Amino acid sequence: MQEKILVLDFGGQYNQLIARRVREHRVYAEIKPFRAISTREIVEQGYKGVIFTGGPNSVYDPQSPHYDPAILDAGIPILGICYGDQLIAHMAGGEIRAARSSGEYGKVALRVEDDALFGGVPTESVCWMSHSDYIAQPPQSFRVIARTDKCPCAAMCDERRKIYGVQFHPEVLHTEYGKQMLNNFLFAICGCKGDWQMDDFVQHAVERYRVELAGKRVLCALSGGVDSSVAAVLLHRAIGSNLTCVFVDHGLLRKGEGDFVERTFRERFEMNLIRVDARERFLSKLAGVVEPERKRKIIGEEFIRVFEEQSQRIGKVDVLVQGTIYPDVIESGAGDASVIKSHHNVGGLPDAIEFDEIVEPLRDLFKDEVREAGIRLGIPRDLVWRQPFPGPGLAVRVIGEITEDKLAALREADAIFREEVAAAGADTMTDQYFAVLTDLRSVGVMGDARTYGYTVALRAVTTDDFMTADWTRLPYDVLARASSRITNEVAQINRVVYDVTSKPPATVEWE
Ligand code: XMP
Repeated sequence: MQEKILVLDFGGQYNQLIARRVREHRVYAEIKPFRAISTREIVEQGYKGVIFTGGPNSVYDPQSPHYDPAILDAGIPILGICYGDQLIAHMAGGEIRAARSSGEYGKVALRVEDDALFGGVPTESVCWMSHSDYIAQPPQSFRVIARTDKCPCAAMCDERRKIYGVQFHPEVLHTEYGKQMLNNFLFAICGCKGDWQMDDFVQHAVERYRVELAGKRVLCALSGGVDSSVAAVLLHRAIGSNLTCVFVDHGLLRKGEGDFVERTFRERFEMNLIRVDARERFLSKLAGVVEPERKRKIIGEEFIRVFEEQSQRIGKVDVLVQGTIYPDVIESGAGDASVIKSHHNVGGLPDAIEFDEIVEPLRDLFKDEVREAGIRLGIPRDLVWRQPFPGPGLAVRVIGEITEDKLAALREADAIFREEVAAAGADTMTDQYFAVLTDLRSVGVMGDARTYGYTVALRAVTTDDFMTADWTRLPYDVLARASSRITNEVAQINRVVYDVTSKPPATVEWE
């Protein structure tokens, strides 16, 4: 059986990060909401260890999440982090108190004792804290194994039951030895071997789908983005010509993108690829529409319609492939985060099409793991390392009404910006960079003539997860060259500005 760790989710903000850090040690980790799995199921499913995550609550709040105390005697090692630590203390009879003053936030000096969890960790180091409540008295069978100036119990353990709790966040890079601590928990305490490998994943998935999907007609919507590309190539390797990919060209792609996708999949991978030229259809539906969410809705719906028509042409489809990845699964499961922007490529699609089954081959993978799988499958680096591009494409980068003329201007400006960033090697500094055609026109001068042209905004962001982002400090020279070329080469544009806003308060895209 594949060895695995359970990350039991109590609503903390770093849960995905915890799972990812575990997987970085080549141990497979799954995140489950605490309500979704019982102690008995945890035991039956053979987890090698459980990590209780942080959470926003106080254990004394009646609304706060609690868990079955039997887990403490189930014979499975446990590591509680932040709220998870306090919850363990509470369940085992310790005492939690509200912070006397302001709590502890940010980098804090940590002093640890000799313990299995802290093997290879110096006595004094820095950890990352974010809490107001604290453990005033650990439960009877536990001993304190770390302290900070404000926190009398920054870590505790019950060696006999292999239960550990840390008030700080080992998963956050600001905790200097966090990686070592997780390593100790996984290998010294849980006895993991660390043999989870991407090659195995790819090979197992290919073999599994070859058997499960034998003789079935399988359809995949290919966007040219990393996720759907990797999903398609993986299934193509398993079932070859029984897979048909449909690539809807909605006319909202970047310069040269449609041809690139077609070349890659038709020629390099010899897939059954249908490229649907739906440019006019989308443009006419979007005519006169200015409101961003309406644009997204129209594109999402039209996409379904085009796809549906194609699938009717193909005939009965047995299986639909989706490029859902792990963060999509978790985000859609969380439920209470407010909708900032509706991402049309999550959900939506299946309702309209008749098929028996959905296959999501990347459902268990994080983005970087999807990329690794892509490389193992022989997908070109250019595609695997592509920067993210929103499903609704340039529609959310043309502010206001979308016209062919505005799209053409944006496509050129965006291509120039990307060329200049790449030519200077600055693409390694930034995680996403693009141009936005604002709806603003302003006065300029060219030769002796007055111009009245569009303002283009350049945007480049640095981020780990796109939930928060900072604007990238691109070199002035790069911005200068891009600006000069754009205003010279794109007739409709006479002004270039650089967006220096982080997220929050702004978002990455302008719409
Ligand atoms: P925001 O603008 O929400 O963007 O800060 C965060 C990341 O998501 C991408 N994005 C989208 N991706 N459909 C997508 O597939 C969408 O509707 C959409 N809107 C934003 C954006 O490019 C950035 O990477």
